[in-house]
Amino acid sequence: MTQTMTGKVALITGAAGAIGMASARLMAARGALIAATDIAGADFGPLRAAIPEEERLLVVEADVTDEAAFGKVVAAAVGKFGTIDIFFNNAGIEGPVAPIPDFPTDGFRKVMDVNVTGIFIGLKLVIPVMAKAGHGSIINSSSVAGLTGSAGLCAYVASKHAVLGLTRAAAVEWGGKGIRVNCINPGPIDSRMMESIEEGASPGAAAAVHDGFAATIPMKRYGTPDEVAGVVAFLASDDAAYVNGAAYTVDGGMTAA
Ligand SMILES: NC(=O)c1ccc[n+]([C@@H]2O[C@H](COP(=O)([O-])OP(=O)(O)OC[C@H]3O[C@@H](n4cnc5c(N)ncnc54)[C@H](O)[C@@H]3O)[C@@H](O)[C@H]2O)c1
Repeated sequence: MTQTMTGKVALITGAAGAIGMASARLMAARGALIAATDIAGADFGPLRAAIPEEERLLVVEADVTDEAAFGKVVAAAVGKFGTIDIFFNNAGIEGPVAPIPDFPTDGFRKVMDVNVTGIFIGLKLVIPVMAKAGHGSIINSSSVAGLTGSAGLCAYVASKHAVLGLTRAAAVEWGGKGIRVNCINPGPIDSRMMESIEEGASPGAAAAVHDGFAATIPMKRYGTPDEVAGVVAFLASDDAAYVNGAAYTVDGGMTAA
């Protein structure tokens, strides 16, 4: 594999999850140094196995909604690697699946806290590091749910639309300082998160929901975490040097239909 990211420092949130880990693995394979963070108790084992060299991987546990804790993550990444060139602002939760009148308000608040405030805190604390260096690439994890509605997922849909808004706000604010800010908008990806949504949509019939979703996608299948990681790595790289404020769908044509 070409070493197109040699020596670049990539901070990744939700790095123990499906898409975060696939992205960490791919960027490490291209030569990047990885600062990985996820919630306390997350399983970093597969990530450590994929990147066994201690000098190339930093792991720090933190809740992205805790500004002080996330500040320690940023400080640890800069302390170990000197700067942050790439920030994959990726941690997120799906939350409850229910029609709006039945949707638990505390569940709504929790989804907004992790998926919106967490993304905001990440931007707030990483942008100054990149501004000091005069360059950087930030990729926020939105979703096709950031572009279109979806029954039963009001909090997730609202939160992912907000991620698109934060992406555009940050891109306009920081593009002139050499910091590009884009978001990815994946469709259904084979992952724990989609299994949870399928089960929430029709308890006991997740497989049927999966097949129903897949049938609506022009490519007739879910994507894989590696297929999302490829787009993340592209946006992180200098190949995307003039891409700023964009929303990249990775959805097999779902939102084109
Ligand atoms: N899986 C999909 O089909 C899909 C589709 C579109 C968008 N996305 C988005 O991609 C991102 C990654 O999703 P994934 O499929 O890898 O899910 P995942 O659940 O495998 O990974 C998400 C990670 O975020 C972490 N996390 C959750 N809350 C956190 C918090 N408060 N602080 C720190 N870390 C926290 C989790 O521990 C988990 O490891 C999410 O933002 C998700 O909404 C996923």
